[in-house]
Amino acid sequence: MTATAVPSTPSPSGSAKPAWDKGLANTIAAETEMSFIDGGKGILEYVGIDIDSLARNSTYEETVFLLWNRRLPKKDELAAFERALRAEYELAPEIYNLIATLPKSTTPMHALRTLVSALATVDPTADDHSIEGSQLKALKLVAKTPALIANFDRHRSGKPFAKPDASQNIAGSFLTMLTGQKPTDAMNRALDVCLILHADHGLNASTFAARVTIATLSDMYSAMTTAVGTLKGPLHGGANEEVMVMLNEIGTIDRVDAFVKAKLAKKELVMGFGHRVYKTTDPRATYLKTFSKQVATDTGNEKLYEMSRTIEDLMAAEVGSKGIWPNVDFYSATTYHSLGLRLDLFTPMFAMSRMAGWSGHCIEQLRDNRLIRPQASYIGPHAAKYVPIAER
Ligand code: SDX
Repeated sequence: MTATAVPSTPSPSGSAKPAWDKGLANTIAAETEMSFIDGGKGILEYVGIDIDSLARNSTYEETVFLLWNRRLPKKDELAAFERALRAEYELAPEIYNLIATLPKSTTPMHALRTLVSALATVDPTADDHSIEGSQLKALKLVAKTPALIANFDRHRSGKPFAKPDASQNIAGSFLTMLTGQKPTDAMNRALDVCLILHADHGLNASTFAARVTIATLSDMYSAMTTAVGTLKGPLHGGANEEVMVMLNEIGTIDRVDAFVKAKLAKKELVMGFGHRVYKTTDPRATYLKTFSKQVATDTGNEKLYEMSRTIEDLMAAEVGSKGIWPNVDFYSATTYHSLGLRLDLFTPMFAMSRMAGWSGHCIEQLRDNRLIRPQASYIGPHAAKYVPIAER
């Protein structure tokens, strides 16, 4: 059924009837103090600090503190925050037992959505939706998600579980659990930067979904479960995996031109491009592009990076005039691949980072809450008669 926008005609009281804003592209549904996006200029700021400065100078843990407290921490505050996170890295035995029961063929995003939800079953404060209670749950979720992802991957690979390492930052503890060995400083930093870049991004689909859930005064675990499920879609967080699928499908740089032009000719999506807000290059992609070149070169994946560059140049020539430019997912794919992550762990990486933004938005929602319940425009019949089944 084709969607028809309902014209905003004045109601008897004289006020305009609400019009249908398909995809809510032109609707402000919340206020936030965390990230600012100027889609025309390609600007992203976390609490006023541009994303490039944060990617170059900050850490994921410091960025989480910034998003949640609206300011950078002093040295002792950061140290205390890192200690608080590391004290919550570990999973309850029941969660490890649950991971062990999941079929090894489960898609990691299905596993993550299930396990985030299960965290509520071992948290006696799960239903405390006070600000303080929600802040504690936010900290637990950011701290525990790495162990959920890494240990599901170990389970499906037939490896024994690996405990988080509280002597390391989130990136280092995650990579150590995942691979069984401590990462190099360069690899640790590469993941830490990716976590910074993905931490928050205004009212994207998964963040909006989380706000809708918490606005009913449900709980943080339910809201994060909603968010993980929403991020999974290939139009949203699932795009980074689809970019890697596309790069593998193209195979060699000489096949880029025909592949991309065929996609565009068929009006099919080239994944990792386009954005609801950015009508120029996503500033996160700008930073990731330089980063992925370095990581790809260091790990012998130059060809993958060169193929990405070729795709970017061709897309600029073909559809740049339509405002279709690389988004965060385009170069995060080559970065994660170069870090040695399996393709179906790319979107879980996105979720691991975005736990900070999702939970921060939920706390903003709770501070000034109103149930989120928009209207639908009824386009069905009226005055229909009930016909007994014998007469149908
Ligand atoms: C993320 O919102 C956020 O902040 C999200 C995110 C975050 O940090 O949370 O930034 C993360 O989700 C990034 C986006 C990842 N998704 C992809 O890379 C999937 C491919 N991109 C498209 O699906 C699309 O660009 C969207 C969904 C991202 C945005 O779509 P819109 O705003 O609804 O725009 P649209 O689909 O109406 O497209 C407008 C036109 C269409 O052509 P016409 O019908 O006008 O001729 O642009 C075309 C589209 O066909 N188009 C593309 C394209 N994206 C849009 N054509 C080819 N390839 C693409 N990637």
